[in-house]
Amino acid sequence: MNSREPQDDQPSLVGRLLDCHTRIREMLSLASSLAGTPPETEDDTRASAERIARYFTRALPMHTRDEEESILPRLTDPDARAALDRMRGEHHDHERLLQALIEPCETLASSPERWSELRDAIRDAASALEPHMIEHLAEEERDLFPHLERLEEATRQSILDEMDARRAARGGGGGRGGGGGRGRHRAP
Ligand SMILES: [Fe+2]
Ligand SMILES: [Fe+2]
Repeated sequence: MNSREPQDDQPSLVGRLLDCHTRIREMLSLASSLAGTPPETEDDTRASAERIARYFTRALPMHTRDEEESILPRLTDPDARAALDRMRGEHHDHERLLQALIEPCETLASSPERWSELRDAIRDAASALEPHMIEHLAEEERDLFPHLERLEEATRQSILDEMDARRAARGGGGGRGGGGGRGRHRAP
């Protein structure tokens, strides 16, 4: 009989990272929805645009730092190193695509009445980013995360501690994937 369900109270390291990936996928879907569906109100538009911009400017960079600053130095297996090198290059490649999405979302958040003018930029940016990001997440889940399960428990805990410290230093923004907020443009 197994009465222990540690993820109920304290998600595993991989569980925490998967939560972040789930949120990234949600935000990509939210961006597509925001661009594709005429808003019911300007408040809805503002809330969704703010949420996307905040996630990709605050929460996602913390996830990237988790991977590059906390995980990368602790994985020395040659297979893991190859995956890590590829991961780091992809993070760099995503920056321009992310910025192309963040900018119109920030503009829309402050000027929701400009939805008709900005929707194409948001749709195009989300469409350009999405396949790269979805592939990146799948690669990490397939090629990288299994290596984390083989780390010593103390090492995994050290990574979790650094992740928590990173979020505490940013005032808790992001947390387990960050985001939050309102808006009727819900990710499917
Ligand atoms: Fe990544
Ligand atoms: Fe990741």
